[in-house]
Amino acid sequence: MNNIIISPSILSADFVNLERDIKRIEEAGADWVHIDVMDGHFVPNITIGIPVVKAIKGITKLPLDVHLMIENPEKYIGAFAKVGADIITIHYEACEDTLKDNIDLIKACNVKAGVSIKPKTSQERLYPYLKDIDLALVMTVEPGFGGQEFLHHCAMKIPKIKELVNDEFIIQVDGGINNITSKICTSLGANSLVAGSYIYGSSDIKASINSLKNIS
Ligand code: DX5
Ligand code: ZN
Repeated sequence: MNNIIISPSILSADFVNLERDIKRIEEAGADWVHIDVMDGHFVPNITIGIPVVKAIKGITKLPLDVHLMIENPEKYIGAFAKVGADIITIHYEACEDTLKDNIDLIKACNVKAGVSIKPKTSQERLYPYLKDIDLALVMTVEPGFGGQEFLHHCAMKIPKIKELVNDEFIIQVDGGINNITSKICTSLGANSLVAGSYIYGSSDIKASINSLKNIS
């Protein structure tokens, strides 16, 4: 259960006080900063873009874990890498036919490459790409918004992916993660947890991160 990478989603932070809210998670022991980029096409919401990622890079030493919920990711991967993304995760559903090219593009930028699947997408779609990527992101809600309820059936994808990868490989889950659902995911083999509303909605951010890491 050790060495779980905690990646708080700043979608639930106070955007007027983003620097303060990123320092808060940094001081509380977060490992990465999860940045949800939405384009209003792939998902019905619009959030953060390249200039904001650049600004965040200037105020934290934590690796930036950029989750691209966008169509045509090939147009933007280079720009996100240039402003300091350390991990770029794209969606299988956004670029089924050009996924390998996009993975190669991310790797050519010297950035860790992740691929995410939505709740209705089978984990089998990822199998041909597992050898090429560093991270598989299993969405446990429909992407688009924070604060949704964890979809239990999605977690069953985790052990199936785990069987095919080594210990270095990162299996990340995102959506509805709290102190209970985190344990379901880590016991099934997840080693990275994204959490937005659970962490930022807590009155004790350090305690909430520790509870995800299973430290009391
Ligand atoms: C949803 C995003 C998530 C979101 C998680 O599309 O990818 O990262 O911020 O929020 P919670 O933890 O509140 O479900
Ligand atoms: Zn996310």
